[in-house]
Amino acid sequence: MIRTDPRQPRRYRAGWLLATTLSLAGCEGRQSALAPAGAGAERIAELFWWMTVGSLLIWALVIGLALYVTRAHPEAHGVRSARWLIIGGGVVFPTTVLTALLIYGLMLIPELRATGDIDRRIEVAGEQWWWRVRYPQENGEAVELANEIRLPLGERILFRLSSPDVIHSFWIPSLAGKVDMIPGRITELVVEPTRTGTFRGACAEYCGASHALMNFQVVVMEPDAYRDWLAHQATLARAPTAEQARRGQQAFLANGCGACHTVRGTPADGRLGPDLTHVGSRLGLGADALPNDREALIRWIGHTGEVKPDVRMPAFGMLPVDELAALAAYLSELE
Ligand code: CUA
Repeated sequence: MIRTDPRQPRRYRAGWLLATTLSLAGCEGRQSALAPAGAGAERIAELFWWMTVGSLLIWALVIGLALYVTRAHPEAHGVRSARWLIIGGGVVFPTTVLTALLIYGLMLIPELRATGDIDRRIEVAGEQWWWRVRYPQENGEAVELANEIRLPLGERILFRLSSPDVIHSFWIPSLAGKVDMIPGRITELVVEPTRTGTFRGACAEYCGASHALMNFQVVVMEPDAYRDWLAHQATLARAPTAEQARRGQQAFLANGCGACHTVRGTPADGRLGPDLTHVGSRLGLGADALPNDREALIRWIGHTGEVKPDVRMPAFGMLPVDELAALAAYLSELE
């Protein structure tokens, strides 16, 4: 319960309530370390709650002692009882609690860092400002996708993390801890989802102007549904059917989009930007900066730098509106 000074103006009290409600609301949902959906996140949430209990115990004891010596017994204390209060309450008790918490936290590290008993690997590279995701296949090939990660429930998945440009940090708060992506190195993280659902990941290290627009959705699926999904993502792009989408494909190739983007099964084989073979099936656009619909596609292609400052992709706002609409029709058909 929050106690506010009744003399405070009403709007300040309302502000306090709103701030507290909002910050507590942030603990729920699909991007919260306190609503765990993975083995690693569960351990981290347990550690958080034990740390909270420990700090509340220390706080309660110190406040209790302060009240005791100022209110209950404000008179001078004898040397022995003063020493007992200071050494016992001020040194021994906090040191014991903090040491116990430190040992507990250190004991979790081997489990959180263990990379054995792996069911599959996924490679993710943090780029400015999107995610290149590769699913290695049994035949040695890899399916390359972008900005969305899907995982089968109940498996231990080893993420191999890298970066070609600056340091990023890979974090899916609901599923596991946070690991930096460092140029020239491969870092690893094991994720073991414990329930299905859609969660949100983010870059957790400042990496440039659009750091805050570098997010992704994570879908944990039943293993059969995951297998079907990955098999579909491995297929070549379907040819456009609608007339508008056909014009969109011509515009895509004529404007040089294929120099940076791959659409498997077409002449577009660029490697700089995200693979777009099945872009229409994704939940978000531009590393989850926009929803994935035609209106957002038109906005993204025509005003790239306004949506995502400093992005490498040039804006194609000079194209006629019907050409932008055709491009959006083509891309949204790439499911
Ligand atoms: Cu990538 Cu911050």
